[in-house]
Amino acid sequence: MKGLILAAGRGTRLRPLTHTRPKPAIRVAGRPIIHYAVENLLEAGVREIGVVVSPETERDLKVALEGYPVRYVLQEEPQGLAHAVDVARDFLGESPFVLYLGDNLFQKGIRRFLEAFKPGVSAVIALVRVEDPRQFGVAVLEGNRVVRLLEKPKDPPSDLAVAGVYVFSPEVLEVVRGLKPSARGEYEITDAIQGLIDRGKTVVGVEVEGWWKDTGRHQDLLDANRLLLEELTPKVEGDVVESQLTGRVVVEKGAKVVRSTVIGPAHIGAGAVVEEAFVGPFTSVGPRARVVRSEVEYSLLEEEAVVEEVRLRLQECILGVRAEVKSRDGLPRAHRLILGDLSQVELA
Ligand code: DAU
Repeated sequence: MKGLILAAGRGTRLRPLTHTRPKPAIRVAGRPIIHYAVENLLEAGVREIGVVVSPETERDLKVALEGYPVRYVLQEEPQGLAHAVDVARDFLGESPFVLYLGDNLFQKGIRRFLEAFKPGVSAVIALVRVEDPRQFGVAVLEGNRVVRLLEKPKDPPSDLAVAGVYVFSPEVLEVVRGLKPSARGEYEITDAIQGLIDRGKTVVGVEVEGWWKDTGRHQDLLDANRLLLEELTPKVEGDVVESQLTGRVVVEKGAKVVRSTVIGPAHIGAGAVVEEAFVGPFTSVGPRARVVRSEVEYSLLEEEAVVEEVRLRLQECILGVRAEVKSRDGLPRAHRLILGDLSQVELA
């Protein structure tokens, strides 16, 4: 069994963050999203892992995955999930494989989907009941067999959304070869699976256990951060001086927490500085980031982000790598903001 993680998309819904960094390289609860995919594959016994990257995402993903035993496959243009599978043909060979969307998170891993991949089954797809399935692939089941599959239908025939893990026998590669682009111009994996069904093959749907997150939008990133922080094992390896840590808190090596209050669940990354500050629940402070004389909660601060002297509490914020929020005299009577394309600021 091989694993193929897709990480070549444009991540347009997460701009401005994804103008400069691919979505699977964004850190939640202290680790790039794609780490969780690789860990889940390894944990399920999948050892040969390929990662599909684009010319734009390749460099950041190689940095994020340094030390992991993975191979890279280049997809020049993000022409769809089935196209990404097609370009990985040489890597996949004749092996069955797990297709894992690099921006998806599964609380309980992916073993149950592999267990359902029994002899005679051509594909297993992960399914989740959701309130509004219109932004997902949607499945119709008879028993546990998938009899129909539609991509982002306006009028969904069921509430079963397709989550981002699939197990395939190599016969799907034949179907992929014959696909035509969909109305939105992409080679859809949903169409490839429907192709298997149309050929009379057995496609099985298995419901996801525990929570699942597709980190498509900003709120999803904050939610994923919250859910993963809730599972942290507390540890303090950095310096904590005259400070109070409450609840599930991780302070990584080289981090400094000085005259501050940190209320968990929270993750303070390696080399970060929290000084005379309040870091509230559900907050990740990235490696070498700084929170000084400020208050931050339910937020995601990336590597080397800076929040200094901001006396208004920052809530539900996402700060990209080296993004800075500062207030010169500690009294935010006026705001001077330098923002990239499509940035969003909400002053509550
Ligand atoms: O998250 C679950 C959903 O994922 C499913 O319900 C849908 O059926 C499935 O089509 C997919 O929809 P999305 O619109 O969320 O897919 P997205 O374009 O965000 O791509 C998912 C991942 O695959 C993301 O990490 C980028 C990567 N990708 C995407 C494309 C289009 C590639 O590597 N190459 C590509 O060409």
